[in-house]
Amino acid sequence: MTPPAAQQADRVLVVVPTYNERENIERITERLRAAAPDVDLLVVDDGSPDGTGKVADELAADDPHVHVLHRTEKAGLGPAYIAGFDWGIAAGYDVLVEMDADGSHPPEQLPRLLAALHRADVVLGSRYVPGGAVVNWPKYRELISRGGNFYARRALGIALRDATGGYRAYRRGVLEAIDYPSVASHGYCFQVDLALRALDAGFRVVEVPITFVEREFGESKMSGDIVREAFLRVGRWGARRRAGQLRALVGAARR
Ligand code: GDD
Ligand code: MN
Repeated sequence: MTPPAAQQADRVLVVVPTYNERENIERITERLRAAAPDVDLLVVDDGSPDGTGKVADELAADDPHVHVLHRTEKAGLGPAYIAGFDWGIAAGYDVLVEMDADGSHPPEQLPRLLAALHRADVVLGSRYVPGGAVVNWPKYRELISRGGNFYARRALGIALRDATGGYRAYRRGVLEAIDYPSVASHGYCFQVDLALRALDAGFRVVEVPITFVEREFGESKMSGDIVREAFLRVGRWGARRRAGQLRALVGAARR
């Protein structure tokens, strides 16, 4: 077991993907820097037309803990995280964290996520475990999210309450083991994919409660396409898993 002292020295990188988050990026940077002063921040901006990338550059110029990765076009949440993880792993970070830019994932709760890494390889910030909450979401949004999680649990046979959530911490070794660059999902389904790969690889995945607060500024990038992508892919993975289990059963019966 790694002694706690060694874990406290872990280098932590928070990866924040942005697309048109000009009103949010400074706020979230300030809150994160105050809540976890030893932690570094990487903004992964997809060439936001509203100038988010430029604001992020100014923040980075003033603070050595802040970094910016510029990409040329909006390619979705998944590819942005893949680029951010590549950057963080190459830079030698021990822990990589996912966090939205819009304030929905309170930086003040990051210490709680990091503390849970003492007993886990992946920590999911969860809205749907006791103590978790969603604030200011319209009923239909919560219904989509809860429905999506129910579907993922049933189709995939996993026990996670919030497999689509995007506030989480991974030990570097997990990312290195699960071949994240091959994840093709673009939208929130990316989150389900990574959680599933971590579980299947035998890593310890735990959920800790978070309070998800709907954004005050800017717009959500959720769309019908993102929901459809998740529905179709999760359905396909589920069918493949059941086929695999069936083959294993038949194989065992024959032996
Ligand atoms: N670079 C980049 N490129 N960033 C993006 C893109 C993209 O194509 N699309 C979205 N983002 C960024 C946003 O700027 C924001 O920082 C973060 O990804 C989350 O996007 P939102 O549009 O705010 O997501 P949401 O609030 O609708 O969705 C929430 O619920 C999902 C489902 O549970 C988030 O918590 C997601 O992480 C979660 O998967
Ligand atoms: Mn949001």
